[in-house]
Amino acid sequence: MIWCTLLNPALDVICKVNELHGGKTYLDSECLQTPAGKGLNVARAIRALGEEVGVHGLLPEYDGRRITAVLDGSGIQHHFLSIPGGMRINTTILEESNGNSTHISAASTPFPSRMQYDYTAFAFQHMQQGDYWCFSGSLPKGFADDTYAALIERGADAGITTMLDSRGPAFKRGVRARPLMIKPNMSELEEFFGEPVQGVHHIALKGKRFLDMGVAYVFISLGADGMIALHKNDCLLCSAPGVPVRDTVGCGDAMVAGVLVAFRRRFSFSETCRMAVACGSAKAMQNGPGVIDGTTVWQLMEEISVTAV
Ligand SMILES: Nc1ncnc2c1ncn2[C@@H]1O[C@H](COP(=O)(O)OP(=O)(O)OP(=O)(O)O)[C@@H](O)[C@H]1O
Ligand SMILES: [Mg+2]
Repeated sequence: MIWCTLLNPALDVICKVNELHGGKTYLDSECLQTPAGKGLNVARAIRALGEEVGVHGLLPEYDGRRITAVLDGSGIQHHFLSIPGGMRINTTILEESNGNSTHISAASTPFPSRMQYDYTAFAFQHMQQGDYWCFSGSLPKGFADDTYAALIERGADAGITTMLDSRGPAFKRGVRARPLMIKPNMSELEEFFGEPVQGVHHIALKGKRFLDMGVAYVFISLGADGMIALHKNDCLLCSAPGVPVRDTVGCGDAMVAGVLVAFRRRFSFSETCRMAVACGSAKAMQNGPGVIDGTTVWQLMEEISVTAV
């Protein structure tokens, strides 16, 4: 079983208007509401590839049903710790006349530190030997930077396999806990090392530093340029296939899904890399996070070249 954590869920509200003018009232606007969070994106993509998957995290008691209804409808299991209040709301206003989009992200109130301990205890209860746990996305306000690190360390004792895809201090602390796999993109890599990183060999050298820190598999995503992946003495440069691009938000989450599914199916390292890149690129072809087409993934895998660096 694969579990994806969702610690900072939000509701994305996208409203369409012809043209936005301050102080005006817009009636009967077309508004779409979708639950958002990286853990949800990863879980959706894993489900699209036909694997059993669950989401594990925090659920606002007031309107959490918005998330559970979507998960139930997609056949995704869930274990949530209920938290007081409602969902964080991110609003986007799309102007049809000029293509402008305006984003308003609601401030979130910090959780009391007790909540972090309640959640980690709740997660430990569900960690079962042989399971895969994916820790992705930001931590909620009020949670300490070592939250993922604590989950990864305890997870290792429980016999689970861990993937970390985060940024900033949560990523830095999490890496020190030696997850089995990580998937930084270029900006996360540069942020981690605090310097610009350029060119294949420089990226590979930084990737090797993660191996030296005790991470077994390092997948560095390079957007349209594909990926550099490292494991033991292997360092592979994987091209991304040329695809008609519609929406690249969540491509990295789809890549993480591909890695987890390939692991679960015991693919070789190079086949895992092909699957990962194919999932990322299949996502780029579709609108909406977590949306990938399984058949497209298998076709794209044939088009990806893998070369040793
Ligand atoms: N324009 C593109 N064309 C083809 N494939 C792409 C494109 N952009 C992304 N991909 C695929 O998706 C993978 C992951 O992309 P990227 O490096 O942008 O992840 P990310 O920054 O972590 O994304 P996010 O955090 O939004 O999920 C790439 O390695 C590649 O395989
Ligand atoms: Mg990412």
